Amino acid sequence: MERIVYLNGDYIPESEAQISIFDRGFLFADAVYEVTAVLDGKLIDNPGHLARLERSTKELGIKLPVTGAELTAIQRKLIEKNGLVEGGIYLQLSRGAESDRDFDYSDDIEPTLVLFTQSRTLINCPKRETGIKVISYNDIRWRRRDIKTTSLLPACLAKHAAHAAKADDVWLIEDGFVTEGGSSNAYIVTQEGKLVTRPLSNDILHGITRASLMKLAKDTGVEIEERNFTIEEAYAAKEAFISSATTFVWPVVEIDGKPVADGKPGEFSLKLRDIYINTAKELAE
Ligand code: PDD
Repeated sequence: MERIVYLNGDYIPESEAQISIFDRGFLFADAVYEVTAVLDGKLIDNPGHLARLERSTKELGIKLPVTGAELTAIQRKLIEKNGLVEGGIYLQLSRGAESDRDFDYSDDIEPTLVLFTQSRTLINCPKRETGIKVISYNDIRWRRRDIKTTSLLPACLAKHAAHAAKADDVWLIEDGFVTEGGSSNAYIVTQEGKLVTRPLSNDILHGITRASLMKLAKDTGVEIEERNFTIEEAYAAKEAFISSATTFVWPVVEIDGKPVADGKPGEFSLKLRDIYINTAKELAE
């Protein structure tokens, strides 16, 4: 069945949604995006996603044509129109289209806003049970990874290489340190039981799930170290996991062909996943 999608004020069947070939999102990846999870038909961690969207648009000088409250209303309407129970809502805002291809842009260009739903199994997904295998991969992205732009070619290439190597995803490496997963934040639990993840900077996306997890992890009493860590530390870790809006927490059970500890999803990772899902459901809007 065709989805109803949102395009610049209209709710239309996906086959009727059309965008100019001169749209800067298409020509230059001059666009930002957000993905919000949906559980029981409700939005998860959405205020955080909308706040980050606003920040991304400010950093790039892209006009946000609607308020946060209006965006939430659009998201809710799409959930309702598509009968979405579990999955996500993709939101993309490009700088817009002019009459030709030109690197420079005028400041009064009208942006293009697109939203669509994706039905996915998030809670009972098999990856919770199996965990995922990752390979390390050179991080070739630009220097402003804190802005959630659609310039995702490095991530596409990296994930394709991971699948070719019979792994599920990558952990990206820069100057010997892990930056992030292919589309997630990366964590290890050391043999001493410390939770380690890279500190926030322009080198990584400031994950909304990460922010919630860090608060919840503190309540468990675990010692948290926000610092850079190497892939060798990850090989020797007690546990490893990733977080994102679409995975929540997925255990990492193998890195570069080496099992993490006994090669099974870690106890803390699964506990944190359950705490996150329960809390997120309570706070869902
Ligand atoms: N990706 N780091 C990167 C590079 C990401 O692309 C993502 C999310 C994250 C996690 O952020 P959050 O917890 O706010 O989802 C970290 C989304 C899910 C995507 O591109 O589909």
